[in-house]
Amino acid sequence: MNTDLFEIIRTTRSMRRLKPDPVAPALIRQVLEAGTAAPSGGNMQTWRFLVVRDPAIKIAVAHWYRRGWHEIVAPRYRASTPPPGSSRDRFDRLLAAAEHLADHLHEAPVWIVPCLEGGTHTRTSGASIYPAVQNMLLAARALGLGATLTTLYLLFEKEAEAALGLPDGTHSYAILPIGYPLGKFGPTARAPLQDVVYADRWGEKWTET
Ligand SMILES: Cc1cc2nc3c(=O)[nH]c(=O)nc-3n(C[C@H](O)[C@H](O)[C@H](O)COP(=O)(O)O)c2cc1C
Repeated sequence: MNTDLFEIIRTTRSMRRLKPDPVAPALIRQVLEAGTAAPSGGNMQTWRFLVVRDPAIKIAVAHWYRRGWHEIVAPRYRASTPPPGSSRDRFDRLLAAAEHLADHLHEAPVWIVPCLEGGTHTRTSGASIYPAVQNMLLAARALGLGATLTTLYLLFEKEAEAALGLPDGTHSYAILPIGYPLGKFGPTARAPLQDVVYADRWGEKWTET
């Protein structure tokens, strides 16, 4: 297990090509415990985590994810320029990996679906679940497990959440497909700080001094 926090943060990238090999429940427990260590507003912890291993459920939900990718997201991404800090080549590899995940999502041995019970579903509610999501991604990475934060199934939110069997008033915020990665973990590609950080006034460059 890798325990250097900054190294883990730097190398936790989306791992979309996964082996179908099962993941020991004890490892999933460690990932879930990392999730529930996260903060939530008022420490209310209205989060619930659905661990999905049932192939029939995964197939039913993955149908909606695949439609979202092929019909809506892929054409949009293919027409766009590479994101900041990336290159055409790297972006093309990302798109190929994203397509692979869209076509193989149901084959990931385990999914964690982070949900919130009750309340309205807004930016504020998201702030009470995404810290748990990031903790779980980092924990998976530390344990040598690959994962990806995915949301594009939400293009068919009603249908996908029905296939997940979520009760009324409970909503999912992501699907995290988890498994042993086929590729290697590696550094994330991001824009440098000088492009994204301002000092005191909007637009004024931040410097370390
Ligand atoms: C809010 C959000 C939604 C995302 N949804 C998806 C998704 O549905 N499918 C997917 O393959 N990746 C998804 N991603 C992963 C991003 O594409 C990925 O994090 C980004 O391209 C940076 O790549 P990296 O994680 O490998 O560094 C999502 C990430 C975030 C933060």
